[in-house]
Amino acid sequence: MIIAVDGPTASGKGTIAKALAGHFNLPHLDTGLLYRAVGYQCARNGGEPNSLADALAACAFDDSLLDDPALRTEEVGGLASRVSVHNAVRKALFERQRAFAMQDGGAVLDGRDIGTVIAPEADAKLFITASVEARARRRFLEMRGRGVQVTLLEIQDDLRRRDERDRNRDVAPLVPAEDAMVIDTSALDKDEAIAAAIAAVEEAVSS
Ligand code: DC
Repeated sequence: MIIAVDGPTASGKGTIAKALAGHFNLPHLDTGLLYRAVGYQCARNGGEPNSLADALAACAFDDSLLDDPALRTEEVGGLASRVSVHNAVRKALFERQRAFAMQDGGAVLDGRDIGTVIAPEADAKLFITASVEARARRRFLEMRGRGVQVTLLEIQDDLRRRDERDRNRDVAPLVPAEDAMVIDTSALDKDEAIAAAIAAVEEAVSS
């Protein structure tokens, strides 16, 4: 069974994808991490993420980078969003994601274009969303918990900028697949969101 989990930054899609992988006993790939690795490598090379040549050169990152906690920062999220607008970068990362999706027994992948581009034949497609305010609040609490000094307004502005870039890019923009089930987590806590996602997958595979 292939499960595609797409959605904007801080919608809860990563948490949900991990929980689905545990529940259905499937391997999980956080595809955002691949774009984050390219963005981070690009910066380490002294490159400019908006430059196609610099972003493409950074696709040759070492796999050990995927374990680097620096990839999880907001700053690297912004770099990832920039390198991800280049079609050639998306193509360079395609095979790896596709092979993961098509492995025997299936998989759960989360990202922006899993249900539309990477695995359009997925058995279940979820699009996880939430209001900017709800996502910013979650991100704020999580960052403050890690001791990061940041304001709610700064986070909201950053999320809006990233949403805009992810939604309006020419290639593989962030849009729900036509056959995706949309789950709005604005008013749900973590357990409720996971339960809704499990129910949606069960419904998709039984119909
Ligand atoms: O999910 P995330 O915040 O880790 O993703 C970081 C950026 O990577 C996001 O702003 C857009 C890009 N991305 C993408 O274009 N396609 C994906 N499948 C996953 C992430």
